[in-house]
Amino acid sequence: MSESVKLIYNGNEFELPVIFGSEGERAIDISTLREKTGFITLDTGYANTGSCESAITYINGEKGILRYRGIPVEQLAEHATFKETAYLLINGRLPTREELTRFSVLLNDHSLVHEDMRAFYENFPRSSHPMGILSSMVNALRSFYPELQNLEEEINMTVTRLLSKVRTLAALSYKISRGHKVVYPRPDLAYCSNFLNMMFDSPVRPYELDEDVVRALRVFWILHADHEQNCSTSAVRLVGSARVTLYAAISAGIAALWGPLHGGANQAVIEMLSEIAEKKNMKKAVERAKDKKDPFRLMGFGHRVYKAYDPRARIMKKMADKVLAKLNISDPLLDIAKELEEIALKDDYFIEHHLYPNVDFYSGIVLRAIGIPTNMFTVLFAIGRLPGWIAQWRESIDDPKWKLYRPRQIYIGPKETSFVPIDER
Ligand code: CMC
Repeated sequence: MSESVKLIYNGNEFELPVIFGSEGERAIDISTLREKTGFITLDTGYANTGSCESAITYINGEKGILRYRGIPVEQLAEHATFKETAYLLINGRLPTREELTRFSVLLNDHSLVHEDMRAFYENFPRSSHPMGILSSMVNALRSFYPELQNLEEEINMTVTRLLSKVRTLAALSYKISRGHKVVYPRPDLAYCSNFLNMMFDSPVRPYELDEDVVRALRVFWILHADHEQNCSTSAVRLVGSARVTLYAAISAGIAALWGPLHGGANQAVIEMLSEIAEKKNMKKAVERAKDKKDPFRLMGFGHRVYKAYDPRARIMKKMADKVLAKLNISDPLLDIAKELEEIALKDDYFIEHHLYPNVDFYSGIVLRAIGIPTNMFTVLFAIGRLPGWIAQWRESIDDPKWKLYRPRQIYIGPKETSFVPIDER
C-alpha cells in the first residue's frame, strides 16, 4: 500500500510519497521536492534527515535497541567473535565455519604492512596524535598496494587489507612512538589476541595473554563495529560518493571519528574523570555541564539518537566491573564515573534532556585496565568501527540509486555587490 503526504503552499498542493522501513520507521521522500515546488529542506545537523536506506544496523534510540543485520548487539557481544561480527556486517550474514576459516586465513596473509611504511612513522613529530597518523597511513596504503584491474577483486582485496593492516598499523604506531622494538603479527593468534600481542609483547617481557583481557577487547570492538549513519560513517559515505578509493574514504572516517564529540569522547571522558579526581570538583562539573553560558559538557553523556540508556554503555559498565575485578585493579575513576552517573541520572536537567551515559562513558576505564594508553583509545574505536564503515561504503556503492552527496544551502550572504579596487577600499 503506497501512502503519501500533502504539502500545501499558497493554495498549491504537492504530494510526496511516504517510505516505510522494516521496523516501522517512516520517511517523507523529498527527492522530487525542489523540482516540484522550488523548495529545499533545511535541517542543521541532519537530525531529521535520512541520507540513505540501509539494511545494516537498526537503532531504536527511544527503547535503547541496537542490532547488526537484525541480531541484537547483546547476543553478538556474548557469543560472537569480532571477526564473525565483521563478516556479518560486510557480507550480510554470519559466516559458516568454512567461510570463517577462509576469512581468517586471508586476514592472516595480509596482516603485514610494507616495510617502507615504517619510515613514515619515524618522521612524524613524537607529539603527533595517533589518530592523525592513522588517517594519513591508511590513505598512504593506496600507494603501496596499487589498484587491481578486476573491480570485484580490487574491492575484496582492499577490504581484506584494511581489516588486517589497520590493526597492524595501529600497534606499530604505538611501538614506534615509545621507541620500542616492533612486534609482527603471529599466524597462531586470533584477531584480538594478535593485536594485544603486537601492542604489548617485548623481548624482555613476553606478553602473557589473559582470556578475560582478550574478551574485554573483543566485546569493546563488537560494540563499536557499526552505528548506522553517525558522523564518521556519513563522512565515509560522503567522501566515498565522489568515487575516491576505499582507503581515502576510510581515512576521512578516521579523521571524523577523532573529534571529541564523536569517537574522541572516550579519551575526553578519562581526562574529565581524572580532573574531577584531582580537583575533587564533581558537583562543579555537573553544574558547569548545565550552565548554558559554559561550553563544558559531561563527556560520555548524551547521544543524538539514544534518548534512553545506550545499550552499549550497559555492557561496557558490566565489563568494567568484571575486568577490574579479574585483574585486581582498583581504579578510582570507575568509582567517580559511577557516582557521576548516579548524580546525573537523578538531576532534573539530565532527566529533561534525556541524557544518559553513552558507550564512551565506561569504555575508557576498560581500555585503561587492559593497558591501552589514553591517546590510543580512539584508535581502538577506529579499528572496531572499520567493518561498519566498510559495510556502509559497500552498501552505498552497490546501491543503484547511488549519487554524489551534494547538499544544498540557503544563502544568507550579501546580495550582488561590485568589486572595489584596492586603493578605494
Ligand atoms: N552535557 C550537558 N548537556 C548536554 C550534553 C552533555 N553531555 N549533551 C547534550 N546536552 C544538552 C545540550 O546542551 C542541549 O541543551 P539545550 O537543548 O538546553 O540547549 C541538549 O542537551 C541537546 O544537545 P545537542 O548538542 O543539541 O544534541 P546532539 O544530539 O547534537 O548531541 C552529542 C549529541 C553526543 C554531541 C552531545 O550529547 C554531547 O556533546 N555529548 C558529549 C560528548 C560525547 O560523549 N560524545 C560521544 C557520543 S557517543 C559515541 C559516538 O557515537 O561517537
